[in-house]
Amino acid sequence: MSLLDDLEQLRTEALAAFAAAADAKALEAARIKYLGTKGRLKDLLGQLGKAPAEIRPQAGKRANQIKGELEGAFANAQARAGKAQVRTGPVGDITEPLPPEVRHGIGKRHPLTRTVDSLMDILRALGFEMVEGPDVEDARHNFDDLNIPADHPSRDAFDTFFLSGNRDALLRSQTSTVQVRMMESRKPPLRVAAPGRVYRPDKIDATHASTFHQIEGLYVDRNVSMADLKGTLKLFACGLFGQDTKLRFRPSFFPFTEPSAEMDCTCPACMGRGCAVCKQSGWVELGGCGMVDPAVFEAVNRTRGDTAYDPAVWSGFAFGFGIERMAMRRHGITDMRRFLENDLRFLRQI
Ligand code: DAH
Repeated sequence: MSLLDDLEQLRTEALAAFAAAADAKALEAARIKYLGTKGRLKDLLGQLGKAPAEIRPQAGKRANQIKGELEGAFANAQARAGKAQVRTGPVGDITEPLPPEVRHGIGKRHPLTRTVDSLMDILRALGFEMVEGPDVEDARHNFDDLNIPADHPSRDAFDTFFLSGNRDALLRSQTSTVQVRMMESRKPPLRVAAPGRVYRPDKIDATHASTFHQIEGLYVDRNVSMADLKGTLKLFACGLFGQDTKLRFRPSFFPFTEPSAEMDCTCPACMGRGCAVCKQSGWVELGGCGMVDPAVFEAVNRTRGDTAYDPAVWSGFAFGFGIERMAMRRHGITDMRRFLENDLRFLRQI
């Protein structure tokens, strides 16, 4: 049998063993057997060097994938075993502190992570792939290629964090940078969504932070129209806030989209009747959107050195929404600063 077959067999066996382990002890035995320093995976990794050269790269890659998958499966099984222990443990003195592994072992994902996961679930169902871009950017990706001219106010030192006075190294002020990066590295058609952190030296208050998160969407194909944008964002908002959600588009301006709009949806707290969350208007703002400006396609073509994004052939839409705002509405949180303070008393409530 080849090394590749051995790897697949190990994977199947290990997954079954982790799933079948009845308690923490059995699970640990399975971990040692498969993932331990003298375990089966280690053994197979050791054989890689001796494998025939033509399968070595493939086997190495597969071994790494399997390692990651098994570690994940082990961690999940461990969390399950931990919970089972809490439920079935001896009921003695209930005021006695829990054993340390139970007290510290069980965490949960941050509310922002959970919001991103739900957003991505909806977008994936609409065919968007999740991608990422760097937090430290250059001026070209953050401004120039997004058609933001040199004299635009957002390029001022009061509006962007430049690194050590270097006007070409900055903390990105918007996830729209990822639009440019994706088009530079891939050919159309393209359907991607990029969640991530953005940075602005804003005055901090309940609805403004110097670090916050956005999710950017970009869809490029033949004959994409504003109707596609509206249809997609309608499905997105309904997935997030419920089927009765209505959308409102207000004409706006962004240098990288033409035409541009700000998008509002019915306030999820009062379903449009008017309440404190929406300041009695019945609407809440989600963010900006619009049709990709041909100037952005042309900038991308210049960098690529080709005409892959010929504006006569391709069109597209883009959108960028604030994630904190959506998380605040979902969980009824009124102060944005709470997300990054890492105060467990807050995080545990959500
Ligand atoms: N980047 C904009 C901002 O941070 C938001 C935005 C507006 C993104 C319109 C877009 C768009 O993709 O089409 O304010």
